[in-house]
Amino acid sequence: MRGFFLVLEGIDGVGKTTQAALLAQRLRNRGYEVLEIREPGGTPAGEAIRELLRRYDLVPWAETCLFLASRAELVQRSIRPAMEQGKIVLGDRFGLSTLAYQGAGRGLPREQLEKLNSWVTGGLEPDLVLVIDLEVEEALARTGDDLDPDLRQNLTLVRQCYLELARQRPERIRVVEGRGSVAEVNERLWRLLKEVEAKWRGG
Ligand code: TMP
Repeated sequence: MRGFFLVLEGIDGVGKTTQAALLAQRLRNRGYEVLEIREPGGTPAGEAIRELLRRYDLVPWAETCLFLASRAELVQRSIRPAMEQGKIVLGDRFGLSTLAYQGAGRGLPREQLEKLNSWVTGGLEPDLVLVIDLEVEEALARTGDDLDPDLRQNLTLVRQCYLELARQRPERIRVVEGRGSVAEVNERLWRLLKEVEAKWRGG
């Protein structure tokens, strides 16, 4: 059976990483084999790329190329093999991050980024993307960066882009309210997943 590729997205501070770990556990408890991945990273070269991105302040296209290089490695070495084995791949970010952060956030043209995304992934797209949505102020308060006005402005654009993408592709991209406790948000994500589970298993 073909696997299922699920991705969590959202601006920094919405709790994606915590939620991904909880969802992976719940899915395993239901008997699924789950591969957890993160972007950038997830392969040895990808982790080195993550470190490069952290260390240098790169111009937008240079930054984009590194995210894409990490994604290409991850797709070919980890995601496709896991999917072929029928696993659930649970991603902490994927291609929409590039559209939102490098496109809306750094002003690069969306169309070109979409083409590049499609080239480096060989056309692989997540079966479902769950965007955890939170007011920028609240997300920044969680990360402790709430005093930086440039970051606030930038994340506002990134957030708007996620919401717009979800409006354009409601069958693949769903928005989940990120306010409330970790358990409350997890329950919302879980409910949505259960909705698609029946469809996935059915065909
Ligand atoms: P993380 O801290 O959620 O793992 O994400 C690392 C940062 O990288 C986060 O600020 C979002 C950013 N990012 C991009 O700008 N473009 C991308 O394509 C990806 C995957 C992440």
